Amino acid sequence: MDTTPGAGRSAADFPTLVVVRHPLVQHKLALLRDRSTPTKIFSELVEELATLLAYEATSDLALEPVAVDTPLEQTTGYRVRGKKLVLVPILRAGLGMVTGVLRLVPSARVGHIGLYRDHDTLEPVDYYFRVPGDAAERDFIVLDPMLATGGSAVSAVSSLKRAGATRIRYLCIVAAPAGVTRLAAAHPDVRVYSAALDRELNAHGYIMPGLGDAGDRLFGTR
Ligand code: PRP
Ligand code: URA
Repeated sequence: MDTTPGAGRSAADFPTLVVVRHPLVQHKLALLRDRSTPTKIFSELVEELATLLAYEATSDLALEPVAVDTPLEQTTGYRVRGKKLVLVPILRAGLGMVTGVLRLVPSARVGHIGLYRDHDTLEPVDYYFRVPGDAAERDFIVLDPMLATGGSAVSAVSSLKRAGATRIRYLCIVAAPAGVTRLAAAHPDVRVYSAALDRELNAHGYIMPGLGDAGDRLFGTR
């Protein structure tokens, strides 16, 4: 059997998905997948991957010109237009990505969405939601390392839209085909940035080959 992540599928099957194939991303991802990687290193790798993925995910932010006085003369520079970006980690595992993205966008606001997957139904159960009030005027980046069945992602994006958000990007580290397809069906306007498109879900809803339970590996629980 071909165990290549995403084997047998082409980018055309996943029009909302951007897989970031930068060598540093792929190198760090291999370390992250390794079962022997300890909690501290795992957490550092999640942060570093979040920075690199966010670089890609912010590449189309709108700019506006700004006059800049250099020591020699005035010139035109460019700054990101509009209100501050909002990062929205999905608790718990999304928390591990926040610092990495803030390193790139230090002025971003941080909202939170609390969700967990019911172990039997695999459907998301939500328990917390807090984002800035003027959501319609801001760009949002949802953070969650794992896009598995897509239930959590659909729920998180739906909540953000109910709060008024219209410009939403989704940052994950490992995506399963089923999750990307489910999110695209519910929210075709949301582009997904991931370090990998893996092969499939197993019977328990875990991504294969995946990296295991991201929250447990990040926080040392189990
Ligand atoms: C994991 C992960 C996602 C979700 C993905 O969280 O961080 O939020 O599962 O699965 P889905 O695409 O099938 O919805 P989990 O529910 O394990 O909660 P935790 O982060 O608190 O461990
Ligand atoms: N959540 C995880 O943490 N890992 C998976 O493989 C699927 C959902």
